Amino acid sequence: MSLLLEVKNLKTYFYTDDGVAKAVDDVSFTLDKGETLGLVGESGCGKSVSALSIMRLIPNPPGKIAGGEIYFKGKNILALSEKEMQNVRGNDIGMIFQEPMTSLNPVFTCGNQIEEAVILHQKLSKEEAKQKALEMLKLVGIPAPEQRYNEYPHQLSGGMRQRIMIAMALCCNPEILIADEPTTALDVTVQAQILELISKLQRELGMGVIMITHDLGVIAEVSNKVAVMYASKVAEFGNVDQIFYNPKHPYTIGLLNSIPKLNKSKERLSTIEGSVPPPTHYPKGCHFCTRCTFAIQKCWDEEPQLLEVEKGHTAACWRISEIDLLKAQYEKSVA
Ligand SMILES: Nc1ncnc2c1ncn2[C@@H]1O[C@H](COP(=O)(O)OP(=O)(O)O)[C@@H](O)[C@H]1O
Ligand code: SF4
Ligand SMILES: [Mg+2]
Repeated sequence: MSLLLEVKNLKTYFYTDDGVAKAVDDVSFTLDKGETLGLVGESGCGKSVSALSIMRLIPNPPGKIAGGEIYFKGKNILALSEKEMQNVRGNDIGMIFQEPMTSLNPVFTCGNQIEEAVILHQKLSKEEAKQKALEMLKLVGIPAPEQRYNEYPHQLSGGMRQRIMIAMALCCNPEILIADEPTTALDVTVQAQILELISKLQRELGMGVIMITHDLGVIAEVSNKVAVMYASKVAEFGNVDQIFYNPKHPYTIGLLNSIPKLNKSKERLSTIEGSVPPPTHYPKGCHFCTRCTFAIQKCWDEEPQLLEVEKGHTAACWRISEIDLLKAQYEKSVA
């Protein structure tokens, strides 16, 4: 495996009127070639801010990368000039942004948008760029590419627009693709098609992929490794089997319990009570303590660090050693 990306102790803060919002606080992960890392967690946990930090697209002010390191194939991204960074964005790391309608320009045809992206980053003539755009439309499975080339974003369905976004992110053959909730706005059938497309392109192009989603179902579908994020931190990290079959953090356990199970007679899904606190007011100890069934006083007072529970599997919880027992007792009590 060759290492593509290393994020070490990343801190991204926003300096707001309500105080410092520590949106990403001491987050670390790595990505290898050909691998898919899933970043999962509820809305507001710092997934998009992590991705935008890697791309160096955090709006400043109010935001700032306040600490940590990011390396792309050993190159320190945080030390690059803006011009060098533009090169990284075009040629090394492609990103599908969370809001397709705000990232596609309504006054340009689909073909023109892809061409612009190609011309900006590769030295191609207008005609070559057009050929490349048509090739990309075909690659992402858009039927009748010559016709679509001349259409505007509003003329396309949500699924087709998402394919255009993927084409734009991939048109310069990046080594890493970051996909931020690429299927959230789509219905289930189209969602499956888009995920299949991303997996297929990854296999063919050998990219590393960071798949960001609030949906564990999507993670199960595509990821090799998973970082579960809660309120600016990585709560648990492991390979997909470790996270789904041997979860150790109460937040991960809660997320898994809220997935609808087909063969369970329980009418009501168990959800995690309460909501993610605002980032200006995270608790001093474990960020999950305000919602955790297993919280004890220590959780409120001191912050737990990620500890290894088995090879390649870490979780940050004070009660990690007794968690299987606690979980069994809890399940018995609510059954
Ligand atoms: N420009 C900004 N100014 C202030 N706070 C921000 C800004 N962008 C994001 N945040 C805050 O950072 C936190 C993490 O956001 P985000 O990474 O978008 O979450 P998600 O996990 O849903 O992608 C949120 O609480 C959000 O309100
Ligand atoms: S440290 Fe405490 S509050 Fe945090 S997840 Fe573990 S038991 Fe719950
Ligand atoms: Mg987001």
